[in-house]
Amino acid sequence: MQQNQMLGNRGPRYRHVQGEEAPYETITVDKLTPIIGAEIGGVDLARLTNRQFDEIHRALAENSVIFFRDQTLGQDEHLDFGRRFGPLHLHPAAPHEPGKPELMIIHADRDSPRANGEGWHTDVSCDVEPPMGSILYIKTCPPKGGDTLFASMYAAYEALSDRMKAYLDGLTAHHSGEHVYRGTYANHGVKDKDSYPRADHPIVRTHPVTGRKGLYVNRGFTTRINGLPRDESDAILRYLYEHMESPLWQCRFRWRANSIAFWDNRCVQHRAMWDYWPHVRSGNRVTVAGDKPV
Ligand code: SIN
Repeated sequence: MQQNQMLGNRGPRYRHVQGEEAPYETITVDKLTPIIGAEIGGVDLARLTNRQFDEIHRALAENSVIFFRDQTLGQDEHLDFGRRFGPLHLHPAAPHEPGKPELMIIHADRDSPRANGEGWHTDVSCDVEPPMGSILYIKTCPPKGGDTLFASMYAAYEALSDRMKAYLDGLTAHHSGEHVYRGTYANHGVKDKDSYPRADHPIVRTHPVTGRKGLYVNRGFTTRINGLPRDESDAILRYLYEHMESPLWQCRFRWRANSIAFWDNRCVQHRAMWDYWPHVRSGNRVTVAGDKPV
């Protein structure tokens, strides 16, 4: 469906060939860009039919991140929606709602020392089996700002030169949660654990549903490329991070109260904008467990 090469100086840096997609029958799908992101309509996530569920699953695979507006889910309905996609993931550090360890709190206000997800990252890529997807439900929005940016790691991979693809082939990178999580949630009263997850993953992973390849290193968790001298690893990672963050394969979601974003961590990185201080932005995230990247 997609292809790229830098063909001299003509044409865009990345060439996305838009394929014909079969129509949807039980939901509407309005793409934000040809490459990533779609707003889904005609659906109440608290009353989902099996057919709608199948089409939402398909829309996620085709668009990598999908958005819903005007949803009224209780905490248990939010959890139930996530469970339809698989077992839920337990965050190694973040605060959760009382008695609901799978319901992560996302909250920033005037007194917050930081907001969640301010740098580009893939959720909890330090886990040996990192999350498949994250379902963020924002209930309180600032008057302006607080957008989330999403970037397609398929497009980022496909836009690399053939030589860079060959260089990365077979390389793995180390991901660590230590520097990310230690002390981070002290303001929420969370005590540090003795240790946080660490894992090695391929730099290029193949998506288990779509079969497409995507880059799988990120500024948040990746600490080095295994088997390379430190200076070479740093230089390659720096290049990949700058490349991944190109606006060419991004979309930007403007939240309204009661919107939901569902992103596929296997092929998407995201970054939350904390440009709304001192206002409040608040909601919950349910995270679906995933597989070991291959
Ligand atoms: C996150 O990384 O889960 C937070 C994203 C956001 O708040 O938009």
